[in-house]
Amino acid sequence: MRIILDTDPGVDDALAIMYLAAQEDAEIVAVGSVHGNVPSPLAAQNALRVIELVGIDAPVAVGAARPLAQPLQTAEFVHGADGLGGRAGAAPRGKPVSESAAEQLVRLARAEPGELTLLALGPLTNIALAVLLEPDLPKLLRSVVVMGGAVSAPGNITPYADANFFHDPEAADLVLGAGFGDLTLVGLDATEQARAGDEWLTAVRTLPGARAEFANGLLEHYAGFYSQMFGTRGCTLHDPLAAAIMLDPKLATYRELSLAVELTGTHTRGQVLSDQRPIASDAYITSTAGAGRVPVRVAETVDVPRFLEQMYEALKVS
Ligand code: RIB
Ligand code: CA
Repeated sequence: MRIILDTDPGVDDALAIMYLAAQEDAEIVAVGSVHGNVPSPLAAQNALRVIELVGIDAPVAVGAARPLAQPLQTAEFVHGADGLGGRAGAAPRGKPVSESAAEQLVRLARAEPGELTLLALGPLTNIALAVLLEPDLPKLLRSVVVMGGAVSAPGNITPYADANFFHDPEAADLVLGAGFGDLTLVGLDATEQARAGDEWLTAVRTLPGARAEFANGLLEHYAGFYSQMFGTRGCTLHDPLAAAIMLDPKLATYRELSLAVELTGTHTRGQVLSDQRPIASDAYITSTAGAGRVPVRVAETVDVPRFLEQMYEALKVS
């Protein structure tokens, strides 16, 4: 699978890149950074740091510096000031390319129509910009996997929204309504099941090698945040699960829903909206948000033991 990665590393983004680097059937063709966990330029530096660590040779393009229609908000309180749990280390050897992440995405999609899969692990600003630059993008990409949203689950950064959709609701709504024929949404409904607990963290801590050492530094910080927030030792592997589902869809079950994103709610901006009424008939109001949109495949249940095993095996690779 040839993949364009759009990402805001970010601790779990970095773990997702490490997961992909260990998969023989995954080739990261290009990376785009986006604001979210950290500002976009730092996200690009961190993407370079991680791909250099795991031996991925791919261009990194700096993406959108801020959301489409709100001020920049970042999440260093989760991922650390350097975005990598204080483990960023030395500057990367490489430099970002000159084109933007959205331009890179459009250029590659046009160059290889029907061949590339987009994995979006941050706010969807770059993807939205790419759709505005190239309205045929939904036809040019082979498939899209998005980590973001919460369809029938609570949010995380707010009670109603996950961080990726909260950080750019307009972009998320534009992408979900753009007509991508093969879009899988791996939202908190699925990722909140992907909890790495104390036993798994302890097992990973015994792994040798530079990659495992770096991953353990990330996990130590991430689990520390979760333990402080929730009182239990562990952390949620949002982005690695989305990467794993992209390569192995049988890890999850799905339902198809037409989705929209709340843009005007005082408290609910970023919330995912869908019409889940059992029978939508003329007796009911049917002009709901998302009505008439191409349905999206929403991940629901997850084979968590198999995913955690795959993630553990990926971190054994040196
Ligand atoms: O809500 C979780 C998502 O927001 C993950 O992608 C995490 O990295 C943050 O970007
Ligand atoms: Ca992310």
